[in-house]
Amino acid sequence: MSRKTLIINGSPRIHGDTAALIGELCRHLHGEFTELSAFRAELAPCIDCRACRNVRGCVFDDDMRAVYADDFDALVIASPVYFSNLPGPLLSLASRLQPLHNAEYYLGNPTTPRPKLGGLIFTGGGKGNEAGAIRAVRPVFRLLNASGFDEHTVLSMHTDTLPAAEDHAALDGVRKLAAWLNGAQ
Ligand SMILES: Cc1cc2nc3c(=O)[nH]c(=O)nc-3n(C[C@H](O)[C@H](O)[C@H](O)COP(=O)(O)O)c2cc1C
Repeated sequence: MSRKTLIINGSPRIHGDTAALIGELCRHLHGEFTELSAFRAELAPCIDCRACRNVRGCVFDDDMRAVYADDFDALVIASPVYFSNLPGPLLSLASRLQPLHNAEYYLGNPTTPRPKLGGLIFTGGGKGNEAGAIRAVRPVFRLLNASGFDEHTVLSMHTDTLPAAEDHAALDGVRKLAAWLNGAQ
């Protein structure tokens, strides 16, 4: 059976730095992959309605289905760093993992997403570094049971002077990420 990778893209720019690295990843990745754009998806942020404290699942039915389906073997999150953190729409997407947290915390009935590999790509071109964004993204990988991203993080953090498309170290890192994901087939 073909392996599936879900790529969550946190950039609004179709031909931007993150897109360049996602493109390189997809050129080397085997199996199926789908991309979910946090900026373009129909995706409500969590409104803390608390329904998921009583009933498993989320009251919203939108593009978050692609994540809740949990039918992928690898998760790659690729995003620019904004204000040393994740861009707002990606934080909104992350907030929709609250039903997974609440299933365990309030319902005592943990969802155990299938174990999967996790890869991370960050781009940045300003003064803030990626540390805050890595902290913010960690619970997403944990709640979705994705591991390995600490060792498989690719950074292109000087895009103001070196566009990611020309950042050979980052491009090489992305190819290594693809090889690691492919090797797990
Ligand atoms: C609102 C905003 C905030 C940003 N904050 C940071 C930051 O804290 N640190 C950083 O290195 N770059 C920051 N940047 C620069 C982007 O991360 C950088 O240009 C990145 O390469 C854009 O990627 P993209 O083309 O894939 O969207 C910021 C850009 C914007 C628009």
